[in-house]
Amino acid sequence: LRKPLLVGNWKMNKLIADVQTFCTEFGRQEDVTAQVSCMIAPTYLGLQTAAKLAAQSRLGVVSQNVHHEKSGAFTGEISIQMLADIGVRASIVGHSERRQFFGETDQSVALKTRALLNANFLAITCVGETQAERQSGKTFEVVSRQLSAVLNLIEYSDNFSIAYEPVWAIGTGLNATPEQAQEVHAFIRKTLSEKFGKAGADKTRILYGGSVKSSNIQGLYAQPCIDGALVGGASLDPQEFWKIGSTIAGTKK
Ligand code: PGA
Repeated sequence: LRKPLLVGNWKMNKLIADVQTFCTEFGRQEDVTAQVSCMIAPTYLGLQTAAKLAAQSRLGVVSQNVHHEKSGAFTGEISIQMLADIGVRASIVGHSERRQFFGETDQSVALKTRALLNANFLAITCVGETQAERQSGKTFEVVSRQLSAVLNLIEYSDNFSIAYEPVWAIGTGLNATPEQAQEVHAFIRKTLSEKFGKAGADKTRILYGGSVKSSNIQGLYAQPCIDGALVGGASLDPQEFWKIGSTIAGTKK
């Protein structure tokens, strides 16, 4: 029903030569991309190199962020058109590090998501609660608020996907258990069905993110509402990243 999607978020890591090495190494592995779409998100500076190598590496290319306006006085920002210009057709938006360290709001994430979908880009929109929010029983309230801001601005699109990333699981080695993740994914899918209807909700991919590695992806991906992963640390190594992809490909739902 939903082709799984695996996205490597490199954050502020690796130089252009490393992009080249990664793509070559990944391209040498057995092809799993018929079963699992695999994509990498290098820094803005690595995108063009990754895009040029995409045919040979079989890796799709994703930006880590984007600005919602087409052009103008926005110092330090990159537009969707600029990404398209170098062969990129996808972006992550609303990553918790963008929200935490760079002041992104539910509203700015919603504007970015809408701009991406209007430009026929794949949008990977991130949501997720902090540890304090989970501990105070606010997980669903927070995810619902973040998601509603986005859903208020968009219509159904095959290009819309969500990454549920509990902030307490990012870069900590503390992944959510498959059951914890499934519970929130099911909630997200239910929220989607209220907006898009069951058919639309059933087609939308919801990725899990937060300390995913090849040793824990199987239990997570086996859950009915988990359609892939957004991976940080473990995506920096091409063998490990490939192994996550091949584990997904080999996991029965
Ligand atoms: P992590 O990061 O896999 O290193 O926890 C995930 C993310 O931030 O997308």
